[in-house]
Amino acid sequence: MSENTSHQVLLVARPEGGVREGCFRLEAAPRPEPGPGQLLVRVIYLSLDPAMRGWISEAPNYREALPLGSVMIGFTVGEVAASRHPDYAAGDFVLGRQGWCEWALSDGGDIHRKLDPAEAPISTALHVLGHTGLTAYLGLTEVGRPAAGETVMVSTAAGAVGSMVGQIARLKGCRAVGLTGSDEKAALCRRDFGYDAAINYKTAPDLGGAIAEACPEGIDVYFDNVGGPVSDAVLERINVGARIVVCGTIGIPDGEAGEPPPPGPRPNRQLLIKRARMEGFLVLDHLARLDRLPAELLAWVGAGKLAFREDRVAGLENAASALLRLLSGQNRGKMMVQVGADPTLSRH
Ligand SMILES: NC(=O)c1ccc[n+]([C@@H]2O[C@H](COP(=O)([O-])OP(=O)(O)OC[C@H]3O[C@@H](n4cnc5c(N)ncnc54)[C@H](OP(=O)(O)O)[C@@H]3O)[C@@H](O)[C@H]2O)c1
Repeated sequence: MSENTSHQVLLVARPEGGVREGCFRLEAAPRPEPGPGQLLVRVIYLSLDPAMRGWISEAPNYREALPLGSVMIGFTVGEVAASRHPDYAAGDFVLGRQGWCEWALSDGGDIHRKLDPAEAPISTALHVLGHTGLTAYLGLTEVGRPAAGETVMVSTAAGAVGSMVGQIARLKGCRAVGLTGSDEKAALCRRDFGYDAAINYKTAPDLGGAIAEACPEGIDVYFDNVGGPVSDAVLERINVGARIVVCGTIGIPDGEAGEPPPPGPRPNRQLLIKRARMEGFLVLDHLARLDRLPAELLAWVGAGKLAFREDRVAGLENAASALLRLLSGQNRGKMMVQVGADPTLSRH
């Protein structure tokens, strides 16, 4: 490999029939040089997120589909290799949105903040101290608004967002109950993430009964990361005044453009009789907060009160297969790609 080469992954096909490796193509390009006002970032870690399924699809979404032929987008942690930008110097570590590439030019507009490796491992800027941590914190505290003593139910409970929601619920004095897709992950929820109870929704013979048993006083807050039949079962057991945070729909099959989602029980009746509130949350509305994370979240992470797991694969060439692992529930913790060497690792 030439020293002046940069590998990048392009989106080359829409996910018709589901996301597949053929949606992406790895290519080599010349490594760019920063011009005036630009910096060159060497990508170290790339975040893989379920939302990528929607970003590459033409189905209606909160953003336009990424055009075919573009470098695939994503959150990254990188090191500034060279800079002609007044705010950045070579050797700075940054959280940004450089996407699926080894080297990227930036004008600073897609950089969220500088990282201090002495404060926390730089990879944490992609989860507990990044967009998934912010999603869990803001979604639960500002939309779910749990009160001490209440029961908080969480789907994808062992994942990057869900594991944080469960722990924050416990820190707020709530009973935390998780739904997840394997016994191993359910055990992880109880052992590592402090859930009071966790249910394997794939094997529970009577999911509704298992939820009722784990939530003897009903459900006050449902942090919904999946939608679909699992969420239908939860909605049957909400309390009067419950809050439902609609954060993700990974449990609803990919819709081709214009194709309606599969039908299911409609929530209107439960919302009416329980005088409940169901509200969507999108972290992309709060990206400015990545540069000023909530003090309470920083304090918990600093005090070691929030456990986390990372699921890393090495090499940009493995990003597409790792995304498929994430979308099929095989990840164990925050899914990310190690794109390049992390020179800060020896400091922790
Ligand atoms: N609204 C926002 O701003 C925002 C921001 C970040 C993430 N999210 C959403 O939060 C959810 C979790 O994201 P994450 O990054 O923390 O990922 P994650 O939970 O670490 O990994 C994804 C998990 O989704 C579950 N899953 C996969 N396929 C599924 C299916 N067909 N049906 C049901 N569950 C399935 C699996 O967990 P189980 O085996 O436990 O089911 C899988 O491990 C996603 O829905 C994502 O879109 C929303």
